[in-house]
Amino acid sequence: MSFLSFRLLLFIVSCFAIMTMLVSPCLAGHGEEREAKVGILLVAFGSTIPEAREALAHVEVRVSEQYPDTEIRWAYSAALVRSILREQGLEYDSPAMALARMMEDGFTHVAVQSLHTIPGEEYHGLLQTAHAFSGMPKGMDTVLVGSPLLATAGDLQAAADAIMANLPTERTPGDAVILLGHGTHHPGDAMYAALQYHLWQRDPNVFVGTVEGVPALDDIRPILAERTITKAYLLPFMAVAGDHAINDMAGDEPDSWNSILTADGVETVCVLKGTAEYDAVVDIWLAHLASALAHF
Ligand code: CO
Repeated sequence: MSFLSFRLLLFIVSCFAIMTMLVSPCLAGHGEEREAKVGILLVAFGSTIPEAREALAHVEVRVSEQYPDTEIRWAYSAALVRSILREQGLEYDSPAMALARMMEDGFTHVAVQSLHTIPGEEYHGLLQTAHAFSGMPKGMDTVLVGSPLLATAGDLQAAADAIMANLPTERTPGDAVILLGHGTHHPGDAMYAALQYHLWQRDPNVFVGTVEGVPALDDIRPILAERTITKAYLLPFMAVAGDHAINDMAGDEPDSWNSILTADGVETVCVLKGTAEYDAVVDIWLAHLASALAHF
């Protein structure tokens, strides 16, 4: 064999070796290519309130209309919510448990859609979980996570438009509309202030406040007083009208927003409807899911 043909042989052999290395992760245990099986995992914080869970069911209806041939599964990211529901005999998976089951059931590609509002702790935890399951030996090839409601500048515009399109119909421009968001110590909290900016470009009397972050109700009260606003509509800015909406927003306790504003001389109207009940809001989550699925 000449030196040249030996070099050629070496080249062919190494090409084959490289190709085998590249192809092998796609092969199942016995060298046969696995059939792709795509699934959707919807992940909400979760709620112990049955009516709130019906709002989430509305999201599932929208997703199944869009993807009639794709299996949809659920997980709740809040451990406390899951354990309360478990005591009532209702089993909800954590994202990790749901992904483990999907792995066992032969899914190769899973689009996980975060139904959270901001990219905070719940969402970032979900990213880590999805990453851990992505490419796990004998598991899923790819697990991708769709962004929560507010992730980009475009989302903020779309969410502000969706809110404006769904304001209570009886509300007059002199009445305030106050959205109650959760709020967090996580840097993702800045999304609420960003949304406020976009809402104020559309209507100066539409506010977003948070229970645990910034802006707070105390940032809104002086503005109401300055504008001598006497009526406010209170709406949750969370996927579901759960515990925070029922207690922190609409409750009778002296520290609820309802009680604080009433004491300020502002008449309140509480609307117990989560954002998952508005089609225009669900559209934003659906767009994020579509972009995750487009990667497969
Ligand atoms: Co909370």
